[in-house]
Amino acid sequence: MGVTYLLKKGLYYLANKPMYVNEKELARMLPSIPGWLERGHIYCFDYAIKNLPDDKPILEIGTFAGLSTNVILYYLNKYNKKNLLLTTDWFLKDISPDEKIATLDNPQDLSNYIKESFVRNVNFFNKSANIKSSDLPSDDFFKAWFEGKEIDNLFGGKFIPSGEISFAYIDGNHVYEYAKRDFENVDKILIKEGFILFDDSADYTNWGSKRVAQEAVKSGKYKVIKKNPHYFVQKIS
Ligand SMILES: C[S@@+](CC[C@H](N)C(=O)[O-])C[C@H]1O[C@@H](n2cnc3c(N)ncnc32)[C@H](O)[C@@H]1O
Repeated sequence: MGVTYLLKKGLYYLANKPMYVNEKELARMLPSIPGWLERGHIYCFDYAIKNLPDDKPILEIGTFAGLSTNVILYYLNKYNKKNLLLTTDWFLKDISPDEKIATLDNPQDLSNYIKESFVRNVNFFNKSANIKSSDLPSDDFFKAWFEGKEIDNLFGGKFIPSGEISFAYIDGNHVYEYAKRDFENVDKILIKEGFILFDDSADYTNWGSKRVAQEAVKSGKYKVIKKNPHYFVQKIS
């Protein structure tokens, strides 16, 4: 992390103080699940779920071991919302066979380990969750969505992802081309007044996801609810 980045981040925080929610019920869960969850996202999950425009599903791209997933499920339960949570993550399937990872004989075993951790963490912290999850890359997940193809559910059985959604959390590959495709696919199925939270999109970051979020707002189809510090937007047309 360069000095310029830290400086930009520091100045940004001075001018735009993020909103933080201290949820007593999450205090022990948050450090118990490995992952990357920006503190400000919790405010956005709370806001989006409290204000969901209807009961259409929520979509999460990029769950890793289920930290953000469990926070979303917590708020669905807290606000007594019945929306189905759909998720997809390819669980680091890009690990190369010759990568050295601690003492693993096969580094690609890590992919299954994270996937199993995800299922275990959801079953443990949100055992009655209304959730269906896939291990497909997001492009393949959306292909199944648009072609009405049946896919495996990590919680057992199969499902066909279909219809519209009311909220999307985009936290898969942050490189511009990938984040852009994720956004374009989400945009096709997100209803008016639905929400999107773009991970790693704050104005001081250098990720492609920032450019995608900025372009979404520039298009006039989305308004910013809050940069907390990452773009949390609502579809307005
Ligand atoms: C930053 S992590 C997600 C962190 C997670 N939301 C949390 O709260 O800890 C990004 C995840 O996106 C997944 N990912 C990356 N590219 C993807 C793609 N093209 N399709 C699906 N998942 C992808 C990775 O396997 C990884 O688990």
